[in-house]
Amino acid sequence: MTRPIRAAIAGVQGYVPDYILTNAELEKMVNTTDEWITTRTGIKERHILKGENQGSSVMGIEAVKGLLEKTNTDPRNIDLLICATITPDMPTPATANIIAHAVGAANAFSYDLQAACSGFLYALVTGAQFIETGKCRKVVVVGVDKMSSIVDYKDRTTCILFGDGAGAVLLAPNKTGQGIMDSVFGGDGVGEEHLHQKAGGSRKPSSHTTVETKEHYLYQNGQAVFKIAVNKMAEMVEEMMQRNHLSSDDIAFIVPHQANKRILSAVAQRAGVDMEKVMINIDKFGNTTAATIPLCLWQYESQLKPGDHLIMTAFGGGFTWGGAYVVWGK
Ligand code: UT7
Repeated sequence: MTRPIRAAIAGVQGYVPDYILTNAELEKMVNTTDEWITTRTGIKERHILKGENQGSSVMGIEAVKGLLEKTNTDPRNIDLLICATITPDMPTPATANIIAHAVGAANAFSYDLQAACSGFLYALVTGAQFIETGKCRKVVVVGVDKMSSIVDYKDRTTCILFGDGAGAVLLAPNKTGQGIMDSVFGGDGVGEEHLHQKAGGSRKPSSHTTVETKEHYLYQNGQAVFKIAVNKMAEMVEEMMQRNHLSSDDIAFIVPHQANKRILSAVAQRAGVDMEKVMINIDKFGNTTAATIPLCLWQYESQLKPGDHLIMTAFGGGFTWGGAYVVWGK
């Protein structure tokens, strides 16, 4: 029996900027403590991109360049590059266009995709469709966010959560049963009131007033988002396991979006999976929005073996959510 073409993850690479913002430093900036941040979120430090005129593309370019080198891929052979981000360098051109040009992907078409913290998962499965249909042979998916550009460092409820970073994967056709096997997505616009940036878009373009009233910063109703995030992220894992007849023993790792360590524990508990099988790097990077999942894959790469069953799960602004079942292997 011939197997269908799957999109296998043929390589992964991450990039985080050098500057580390610790909880101790945040204690000097807002009314918070290392103890509160650690127990409520699991975060100890996050990386921040400093400097004038440094946009998300700077980190995306580093991640993609590293990915192409590592996988020995000629950039001219890339057919498509998708960039998931909520912090593009600018509204137009797309950050994907900037990255593709900088890495020499001269034959690729490229575009951005915005699904907040679920962005990487949405982009991964979108990219996979182009491989599965035979339309493309090499697709790069990069998740990148410079969250420090939209965070108010006077608001203790958000500034402790977020960090900057990028992660990229190369997708290639596979006929041996490895790759992205299944996925599920959902959304609900009710999320707007709980997680948004009020100004800077077409509804409320930037003005002196919007700057003065701090409407360009990210606003989050943490408690409301927390409750729905736990439910949806756990549901995504359960659905992927049930639909693909996987028990907790079959799973090598859950690869979750990193928003809060307490969410990760609750998701693992509901799925009946040990915490050792949950990829966690929120302590080092905080919530890097579209970059969390590829940064996890990059960090845990040495622990992954071909044939390992992974379940990815994400939840974010919109609301958006999703899950994917992936068999690791190139
Ligand atoms: O990635 C996209 C999806 N995002 C998420 O999934 C995030 C989900 N939400 C969360 O992770 C959590 O809700 C937060 C970490 C954002 C907040 O944790 P919480 O346990 O929900 O805290 P809370 O908002 O209920 O606040 C509890 C208390 C409040 O004080 P009072 O009213 O009890 O006196 C806050 O003012 O903690 C206070 N507080 C802080 N205290 C010290 C809020 N932020 C801080 C802080 N340091 N940084």
